[in-house]
Amino acid sequence: MSSDIETHYGGSSELSARIRDALAAAGKDPARLTSADLATVDEFHIRGRQATLELASHMELTRDSHVLDLGSGLGGPARTLAEACGCRVTGIDLTRSFCDAAAAMSDWVGLSDRVRFVHGDAAGAPFEPASFDAAMTIHVAMNVAAKDAFYAGARRALKPGRIFAVYDVLQGEGGPVLFPVPWARDASISHLATPARMRELLAGAGFRIEEEIDSTQASLAWFKDVAARMAQSGPPPVGFQLFLGADFPQMARNQVQNLAEKRIRTVAYICRA
Ligand SMILES: C[S@@+](CC[C@H](N)C(=O)[O-])C[C@H]1O[C@@H](n2cnc3c(N)ncnc32)[C@H](O)[C@@H]1O
Repeated sequence: MSSDIETHYGGSSELSARIRDALAAAGKDPARLTSADLATVDEFHIRGRQATLELASHMELTRDSHVLDLGSGLGGPARTLAEACGCRVTGIDLTRSFCDAAAAMSDWVGLSDRVRFVHGDAAGAPFEPASFDAAMTIHVAMNVAAKDAFYAGARRALKPGRIFAVYDVLQGEGGPVLFPVPWARDASISHLATPARMRELLAGAGFRIEEEIDSTQASLAWFKDVAARMAQSGPPPVGFQLFLGADFPQMARNQVQNLAEKRIRTVAYICRA
């Protein structure tokens, strides 16, 4: 199952070179890149950098915080937190090519001293118990069948009383998901929880849910905009198609329909350990 997920996301071992070439083709000077230049490709979730900053605003972060990012992808959310809050972030991700690209991209923008990325399964996260000041996960559990182990790992790694911020795609009430979508080309690696199940899972792992924030309407507006821009002028030069491939425009159209028909919902949970 893990390798199916890695195959879905991580076809290329040369991903950072591909991103660098795409940035250069878009007129960016490779020697003067900023994290904002990377945001169209490295914030790999609905509503991008804005959604990461919204989540960060709930996480009680200081410059001294050490944050765990479960399913850190290309490292965009980790770099956004490190830059915005001055904290340190450790990410863990199942897809090796993403971890390698995340490390390279952090170097490009001068954040390597504050973020690091570990290749591995977040469900068995190899971290010291009670060693993190905050934890987050953004658009990851859609691929996680063993959700109990995933959330238990987050709880174990977090210091008591600290915040675990979750922002994920959930199963809506409007019917089954239309595939392909950015996290799966078919149902075999898609494991969506309903909002009711999420509350059970988080409580079962030892979290108290302090806020539940449904952003489905904002997500629909965001994906409509993405799909409309692609229909007009094709995928952006530095975008998710660099790793999702030629399916991405179809995935975006499906996401508009999935969100409009409430087949999926996007929801954030601010939880206290
Ligand atoms: C849609 S991407 C989101 C990446 C990142 N959180 C972001 O928002 O930019 C989903 C990521 O979850 C990772 N993933 C899926 N299952 C995982 C698991 N069990 N442990 C660690 N990473 C996992 C995938 O490799 C992929 O990088």
